[in-house]
Amino acid sequence: MKFFIDTANVDEIREANEMGVLAGVTTNPSLIAKEGRDYKTVLKEITGIVDGAISGEVKATTTDAEGMIKEGREIAAIHKNMVVKIPMTAEGLKAIHALDADGIKTNCTLVFTANQALLAARAGATYVSPFLGRLDDISEPGYKLIEEISAMFKNYDDIDTQIICASIRNPLQVEQCALAGADIATIPFKVIKQMIHHPLTDEGIVKFQNDYRAVFGD
Ligand code: G3P
Repeated sequence: MKFFIDTANVDEIREANEMGVLAGVTTNPSLIAKEGRDYKTVLKEITGIVDGAISGEVKATTTDAEGMIKEGREIAAIHKNMVVKIPMTAEGLKAIHALDADGIKTNCTLVFTANQALLAARAGATYVSPFLGRLDDISEPGYKLIEEISAMFKNYDDIDTQIICASIRNPLQVEQCALAGADIATIPFKVIKQMIHHPLTDEGIVKFQNDYRAVFGD
């Protein structure tokens, strides 16, 4: 499984990218709004930090296929690595299909069932983004959706759509995504940092330091 970071904060992206673990970035209207900066400026800056798939979503207020296609072409023109994020709707499927015909990569988002993922794949989506965390939030086992989509896609050798496990809340969900067969997990910076730490690792580092200092000093 590969890691994307789920944020529009360029400082977080820069710091995580320095660890060498990022294969891409996902943003969404809420994450962009949180930064309060010009949308295209932020996306362009991100493409200069991470050499990987950068997902930029069409405006949340654009709901018709024609509008999503127009915006999708504008987003794709920002950089060769741009991926156009489009919500799972009938109009969204039309837009995915049209952008795929243009050779533009898309990421179908707000996916909550295996059927939605299969429709997006058949429409030509490069990626599908099932939201594991929001299912867990309502006591539905999100990892099972990832397992279903992964098993379903593996049944057909003409499906090369990749699964981006999204809406991640904690490190355990990252492990669940990997075990369930997701191609990618897109992870908030806070969770990436949590994944690094274990109390015994931190405790062991302190013990090594103390033992070394006791004999050799700093
Ligand atoms: O960016 C898509 C997804 O990761 C959003 O997750 O935390 O808003 O449920 P969240």
